[in-house]
Amino acid sequence: MQDKIQKASILLDALPYIKKFAKQTIVIKYGGAAQINPKLKDEFARDIVLLYLVGIRIIIVHGGGKSINNVLDKLKIESHFVDGLRVTDEKAMEVVEMVLSGNVNKEITTLLNFNGAKAIGLSGKDANFIKAKTADGGKYGLVGDITQVNSEMLLQLINDGFIPVIAPIASGDDEKHPGYNINADLAASEIAKSVKAKKVIFLTDTIGVLDKDKNLLSKLKKDDIEKLKIDGTINGGMIPKVDACLKAIEGGVDDAHIIDGRIQHSIILELFTNEGIGTIIKK
Ligand SMILES: Nc1ncnc2c1ncn2[C@@H]1O[C@H](COP(=O)(O)OP(=O)(O)OP(=O)(O)O)[C@@H](O)[C@H]1O
Ligand SMILES: [Mg+2]
Repeated sequence: MQDKIQKASILLDALPYIKKFAKQTIVIKYGGAAQINPKLKDEFARDIVLLYLVGIRIIIVHGGGKSINNVLDKLKIESHFVDGLRVTDEKAMEVVEMVLSGNVNKEITTLLNFNGAKAIGLSGKDANFIKAKTADGGKYGLVGDITQVNSEMLLQLINDGFIPVIAPIASGDDEKHPGYNINADLAASEIAKSVKAKKVIFLTDTIGVLDKDKNLLSKLKKDDIEKLKIDGTINGGMIPKVDACLKAIEGGVDDAHIIDGRIQHSIILELFTNEGIGTIIKK
């Protein structure tokens, strides 16, 4: 009996947080690096469904860097990263779209639906809801900078009880354009801004942003981030992630979190406990 009472009391501990976040919109970036093992993927889906069923409006934006690398390797297509962004030519773009919009998107959507949500998979090409232009004069090939997100469509979907699951690809300038490869972190922040989300949470494969001695930095401000980027402590895929956090909070989102997707139930721990587990960047 005591066990059961304790279980009930643990559930009730979440009540203040449920009250705080119910009806709020939270954008979750599910990094490719965090999509590692099947058990964790299933737990991720169940955590999301729990948030959804207590009334939090959820939007998922996913990456898929590792899956894209696997297929590019198999097809012997070379690609490399500059400033944490994948330089994307037309051949690589075909694979990016195939893997992100095809495999990864449908896998996440399926898992959510089988766990009790109404998830709907989309890319920015659907209803042209994400538009972009060539980033940095073409330095990264078909990598795009988002110019517009149609929040109306997303809001309609979440108002109707759907969880949009978004592959970060934007539609191009004409029907022949292969589309733009958008860094998923930057897509998540633009989407969070456009729907006036309360939070954006990045699930990745590190405990948060680390300092040069590999210790967790649990809180960061803009100035700290600039310094860490300049001295190289923040590098690779962490560069677009912290940039995305700053863009989100400057665009009106309350908090941006970078948390460890390899830890079981990391989203629940971050949202429903006082301490939090990763790095938080606040307005
Ligand atoms: N200061 C830092 N602290 C923590 N991680 C860092 C830092 N600098 C660079 N990184 C790297 O950033 C990586 C996370 O970015 P990465 O792009 O690889 O993952 P992701 O964004 O979660 O996945 P995807 O790009 O597939 O969506 C970490 O695995 C780490 O190697
Ligand atoms: Mg990344």
